[in-house]
Amino acid sequence: MTISDKTVLVTGANRGIGRALAAEALARNARQVYAGTRRPLAHPDARVTPLTLDVTSPEQVQAAVGEIGSLDVLINNAGIALVDDLTDPAAIERHLAVNLFGTYAVTQAFLPALARSRGAIVNILSLNSIAPLPLIPAYSISKAAAFSLTQSLRALLAGQGVRVHAVLAGPVDTDMLRGVDIPKASPESVARAIFDAVDNGEEDIFPDSVSAFIADSWHDGAARCSSIADPSHQGPWPWGFRGVAPPG
Ligand SMILES: NC(=O)c1ccc[n+]([C@@H]2O[C@H](COP(=O)([O-])OP(=O)(O)OC[C@H]3O[C@@H](n4cnc5c(N)ncnc54)[C@H](OP(=O)(O)O)[C@@H]3O)[C@@H](O)[C@H]2O)c1
Repeated sequence: MTISDKTVLVTGANRGIGRALAAEALARNARQVYAGTRRPLAHPDARVTPLTLDVTSPEQVQAAVGEIGSLDVLINNAGIALVDDLTDPAAIERHLAVNLFGTYAVTQAFLPALARSRGAIVNILSLNSIAPLPLIPAYSISKAAAFSLTQSLRALLAGQGVRVHAVLAGPVDTDMLRGVDIPKASPESVARAIFDAVDNGEEDIFPDSVSAFIADSWHDGAARCSSIADPSHQGPWPWGFRGVAPPG
């Protein structure tokens, strides 16, 4: 998959990593970039079509499907991260609503288009999907759930020719981490690394130096095998993944 001449939808495209992904898609000669935003957006490049898209709004998701028609690459980037301490279940629900159910709803809505184009889904997850940060536990829970969703979709959609990528990013210099004084990758470098990895067919993508630190051990791990799109990888489950019903 190269991005050249492709139609791309990026959710949360008005700032941060989403804006960098939209810009990088244009730099790689995407034919059309749909920029999903919650507020009106003006963009100087004629290949960009702004789209009102709150991923928690079923109406707006359906309207986006009607407007876009055909799609090659869906990038589920929209996300929230709020500090909490797990004392209030509402914090978990708020994160799940955007980071899990928003990603799920947009993905399901665009699946027919992606199956027609034999396209790709790129879910912007987090290193917190596999290594929770107790400062943002509700966020970490939602990103772990979204990673599990991504892994299952990868195997389930392989037969339809739809590739499903997980981006397990470390700290990136955006509003989300504003005021947190740690080394951060630039959104532009992360966007480049993501498209390079999609081009290379990498399923689990570690796009910065912090996340790259664990990439080697992750790629060789038994837990990863069950979600590899290649059906010859059985993974840890004794009955295999596809075609054979579990005992009982
Ligand atoms: N920054 C990091 O260190 C880091 C690391 C790993 C992963 N990530 C992930 O990368 C993605 C982008 O994060 P970022 O760092 O670029 O954060 P950001 O600068 O805070 O941007 C978040 C984007 O998501 C949008 N958004 C939030 N809720 C939405 C909703 N309900 N519907 C549609 N759009 C919504 C925001 O729109 P508004 O402008 O309207 O609020 C904004 O465009 C997120 O999924 C995040 O979890 C970030």
